[in-house]
Amino acid sequence: MHTFPRSVYSMSNIEDSHICVVMVGLPARGKSLIAQKIVRYLKWLSVNAKSFNVGSYRRADTPHPTADFFDTGNLEGERLRRAAAEAAVNDMLRWFEHEGGHVGILDATNSTRSRRAWIEERCKSKGYDVMFVESKCDDEDLIMNNILEVKTTSPDYVGQDPEVAARDFRDRIRNYEKVYETIDEPHLTYVKLINVSSQVIINQVSNYLQTRIIYFAMNLHITPRSIWLSRHGESEFNVLGKLGGDASLSPRGLAYAEALPGLVKDSVGDKDITLWTSTMKRTIQTAKHLTYPKKQWKALDELDAGVCDGLTYKEIEKKYPEDFRARDDDKYNYRYQGGESYRDVVIRLEPIIMEMERGSDIMVVTHQAILRCIYAYFMNVPQDQSPWMEIPLHTVIKLTPRAYGTQEERFKANIPAVSTFRAKYTSANMGGEAAIFDAERAKLPISGAQANGVITINGDVEAVPQKVGAVSVVGSLGSNGGTLVVE
Ligand code: F6P
Ligand code: PEP
Repeated sequence: MHTFPRSVYSMSNIEDSHICVVMVGLPARGKSLIAQKIVRYLKWLSVNAKSFNVGSYRRADTPHPTADFFDTGNLEGERLRRAAAEAAVNDMLRWFEHEGGHVGILDATNSTRSRRAWIEERCKSKGYDVMFVESKCDDEDLIMNNILEVKTTSPDYVGQDPEVAARDFRDRIRNYEKVYETIDEPHLTYVKLINVSSQVIINQVSNYLQTRIIYFAMNLHITPRSIWLSRHGESEFNVLGKLGGDASLSPRGLAYAEALPGLVKDSVGDKDITLWTSTMKRTIQTAKHLTYPKKQWKALDELDAGVCDGLTYKEIEKKYPEDFRARDDDKYNYRYQGGESYRDVVIRLEPIIMEMERGSDIMVVTHQAILRCIYAYFMNVPQDQSPWMEIPLHTVIKLTPRAYGTQEERFKANIPAVSTFRAKYTSANMGGEAAIFDAERAKLPISGAQANGVITINGDVEAVPQKVGAVSVVGSLGSNGGTLVVE
């Protein structure tokens, strides 16, 4: 029985890092958005990151404050706001100490020198690094957009007339402006992002993780755009249930390639989009009829299955049973012999994600595992789930990043295809032969699996009383699908 050792990854030398990233800036400067994006990005890269939003702590006592609450002359307001900041900092320090936190983000205005000095003192007393990230913005359009889009949907103003809320929010900003001191303390580590990133000032930055965070923050923009994601059309290998290879499209895959321009026509409209494919035949053929400017990325090639390339799941189970089992036990970390793991793929996709953050409207035609990783980034899907997500063939997924979260739409071509999805602890993919469902091993809730017809497994298998081993297949599991019933 061999074990599968963890290798060193580009961000794994951060075990001893504790960085408190302190947001600075007036309300409506996109601080929470930047904080959330940094958290999502770092978590995707396996860095334990968490945001502590002082406003949420304050809401425990004062859920719907009016602007005068934020007037520094309002002593009770000052006291409550200070208490909220203290509660957030205490929780963050506890999280560093007891929950293996690496990057904690203190999301608040932190707009005075004395507040920053206090935070610095609290963090330094525990030996943690502090980096301030100020978002400074005097572009009225940007501020107005932020006021309208974010703050009128804020829990502070829930149920209120948006006009009244926007007016109150502007008054709140005025109260903050009276005491706001932009960051210029020479001894502090800080980055100042001016009007999103038109100008960036960096001071006293020393360590690697800090520079990574800054580089990411510098690449963020807020211009509205969408990302269209598609797997390649059904390939000849997909039909045979074989992994990897560089096969051509099947006749149904070719039909999808022909249908693709029509499928995305309405949602793309007259936008100037760029089309990215991998370097493999099946994605290039799929993009053939799309007329957008194209770019091929090696980094978008499918997860390398190493010695298992060209085999079916059943063949792998027979030839490499330990590997097959180990992969299902920890699909994110399992690395194929001579090939890759999902974790490896994320590392090679990092420049792609950075380009996507920098860029405008983009369509990406790539592969199952690659799309899972990209989708997981935008939709914040945890690592234990992302390799098990269903990303069906012949379907375009449109993602539109918004102020809070990413909006998703799916466009399905009416062209059948096999399903390449294999559920955990089963030995065949769902599109071809009947899946043999090993319920003994299925310790996790199974939320559902889908073939080109419909195969659904619902419910928590562990919760099924003793009869767990018995599974019957009702209907055909061929190209018309069927239903798997756990009895
Ligand atoms: O079956 C299609 C495919 O793209 C293979 O080339 C690849 O090995 C596989 O999907 C990745 O999916 P999973 O990680 O679920 O095996
Ligand atoms: C808040 O109360 O909404 C808030 C963000 O507090 P602070 O003034 O500390 O930034």
